[in-house]
Amino acid sequence: MTISGKAKLAGVIGWPVSHSLSPKLHGFWLDELGVDGAYLPLAVKPEDFDLVVKSLPKMGFRGVNITVPHKEAAFKACDRLTEQAKRIGAVNTIIIQDDGSLLGDNTDGFGFMANLKTGQPGWDAGRGPAVVLGAGGAARAVLDALLEADCPEIRLTNRTFERAKGLFNHFNTYFPGKISLIEWEKRDFALENANLVVNTTSLGMHGQPPLEISLDRLPADCLVTDIVYVPLVTPILDLAHKRGNPTVDGLGMLLHQARPGFDAWFGQMPQVTDELRLEILAGLD
Ligand code: ATR
Repeated sequence: MTISGKAKLAGVIGWPVSHSLSPKLHGFWLDELGVDGAYLPLAVKPEDFDLVVKSLPKMGFRGVNITVPHKEAAFKACDRLTEQAKRIGAVNTIIIQDDGSLLGDNTDGFGFMANLKTGQPGWDAGRGPAVVLGAGGAARAVLDALLEADCPEIRLTNRTFERAKGLFNHFNTYFPGKISLIEWEKRDFALENANLVVNTTSLGMHGQPPLEISLDRLPADCLVTDIVYVPLVTPILDLAHKRGNPTVDGLGMLLHQARPGFDAWFGQMPQVTDELRLEILAGLD
């Protein structure tokens, strides 16, 4: 659509940014909802990040998404942070306030949970233990979302044990006694009576080795999900599906995490539809 001189402005800051699917995603919603607005890819080097982000209010931006490698820098640059952003320790969405200050949010946990709720409506986080594989940036958002949703027990396992311990120490201060640590070599045993298994590692991603895990101990009704979405059906999802377990792929997390930002900048809460999924899938390798 044509944009006017009053168009609302937002975008995504990354380095590089050309891989980002966000312009296509927000562009789809701007068209669909007929919003007079624009969402731009902003390629910003790490050394320029602070200057650029602090200039956004002066240029009339309503906010931005933040992607690799700037999520921690954005956490430090914002004037205020939401509780989610504080707990996760990273910012993926900045909302510029009326006074020009920067509010930092993290919507990855929202995206993760909204994806599960829409992909598997009968599933309830409160019903049993969740097994989280991996302890990187994505795992922080997944842990936070599960703990906020009253998951009774999280079994966290990661190749580098110390990294999992760091996450344990951090989240245990907010949600005491909910997380237990499992050695990576013993991950098969963690699946006993689980209600959810989440792969937050990069294993299974196109060009990476598959995640090796035996699902023999997995209950038949346990939900299995992956944050990797290239390919859409990762080896663990394929394995789970073949033995009859419910599965939810990772693309929906990417789509849903974008919704709160769009709502804050453009004034309408967009929806994730099959049409949107197909449009985004068409652009994936
Ligand atoms: P992100 O921000 O996407 O979570 P990250 O912070 O680089 O990315 O984390 C990647 C995750 O994948 C980590 O849990 C990492 O394990 P380590 O902490 O031991 O590095 C995990 N990972 C990557 N390659 C792996 C491999 N070959 N085997 C097991 N885990 C792997």
